[in-house]
Amino acid sequence: MATQFPVVISTTLTLLEKFQATLASPTTATAQAPSKDANASAEADTTTNALPLLSNSAAVLKSQVTKLSLLAITAPFTHSAVSTVLRACNESVLPSLVTAALLVTPAGYTQAFHTEILLLVKTALVEFSTLVRDVKGIAETKDLAKRERDAKKEKEGEISKIEKDAVMVAVGRVWDACDAVTEVAGKGVVGFVMRRVEQWRDLVKDAVEELEDWDPEEDDEFFDELMGEEKGDDNDDDDEDEDEEEDTAALQENKKSTLRFIKPIAQVYPAILTNRLKNAGDKPLSSTAGIAKLESLMINLQSIPDQVDEAAGALYENNWSKAAEYLKKTQKNAAQAVNSVSSPWIVSEIAEGEQQPADKFATWSKMWLKVMDEVSKPIDAAVSE
Ligand SMILES: *[C@@H]1O[C@H](CO)[C@@H](O)[C@H](O)[C@H]1NC(C)=O
Ligand SMILES: *[C@@H]1O[C@H](CO)[C@@H](O)[C@H](O)[C@H]1NC(C)=O
Ligand SMILES: *[C@@H]1O[C@H](CO)[C@@H](O)[C@H](O)[C@H]1NC(C)=O
Repeated sequence: MATQFPVVISTTLTLLEKFQATLASPTTATAQAPSKDANASAEADTTTNALPLLSNSAAVLKSQVTKLSLLAITAPFTHSAVSTVLRACNESVLPSLVTAALLVTPAGYTQAFHTEILLLVKTALVEFSTLVRDVKGIAETKDLAKRERDAKKEKEGEISKIEKDAVMVAVGRVWDACDAVTEVAGKGVVGFVMRRVEQWRDLVKDAVEELEDWDPEEDDEFFDELMGEEKGDDNDDDDEDEDEEEDTAALQENKKSTLRFIKPIAQVYPAILTNRLKNAGDKPLSSTAGIAKLESLMINLQSIPDQVDEAAGALYENNWSKAAEYLKKTQKNAAQAVNSVSSPWIVSEIAEGEQQPADKFATWSKMWLKVMDEVSKPIDAAVSE
């Protein structure tokens, strides 16, 4: 067995490298995906299979890794037992994990979810490689020590605390990586989208709060001090003071228009979360159209926080036309997001002549568009200036 051990360990390391390379090139993964003209039901099938397979593989890797670490830090070091664990990883655990990851295609699960899963699985492989290398190091040290010991007929000693700690740290990292895979796979695509949307919602909320706290008048005084001017200095400052007052008034007005405009934009996030994501289950994934909607939803909602920041920044610099330009961009993205999910994921079949029952979000989205038309008037004026 002892002679086979170096082979098993190096095979495992080679395989890990190969798999990391596979996962590092998502384009290949996309090409390998079944590219038949997306049959909706075929995709629903992969949806139900890949994620549980992924969670299971991650759980099995976790338990194998636990076994491996215990074998590595407990004397005597048993090459055959370690080989058995590594062989299981090499032959089934790792191939299943990587296969499951590759089944999570952009077409069936959205680009963002696909990228996330590949990244998480790759992290698990990287951390596992570290552990295997630690085990390899321990085996080598032990082999060396054994030769000396055999001469003196001594019993095998414990491994050093440093080696033990290194193994425990490496195991902890593999566990964390596996848990991350299990968690994201468990929540599924819609759960993942929700988490992202919540993060973007919070960013927009922060920007709105910051804007609310901003006092253009204070800014003015700040700049005055910066320029070495003092209030009520000389009498020929009167004109300037008047200009400043006008400036401040304009800034206050622009701040007000911006807030009136951004608030309904910010409301898009909770409205979509509550009405289109929270109880959606796997419905969005049951058709290619649904997946495309999720994709579009993410692209649009993701771009808004940056645009809001840019708009606020321009407002602070007193560049109103620039601020208005960015605000119009947020409006466009928000409207696209709202429109992409304006109808329910699955429109129920209705008998002829029957009225489609009013959907809450569909009604909300019509009102939202009207509100946006209204609050965008001062912004539109600034853009066309
Ligand atoms: C490791 O697994 C691969 C296939 O995944 C196999 O070709 C190879 O022989 C295995 N090596 C060992 C030492 O088990
Ligand atoms: C596509 O799915 C339908 C069921 O929705 C099925 O009847 C049809 O055979 C499938 N086509 C292919 C090419 O698999
Ligand atoms: C406002 O921003 C635009 C770029 O978006 C720039 O071209 C223009 O010069 C800026 N105006 C002022 C007054 O800084």
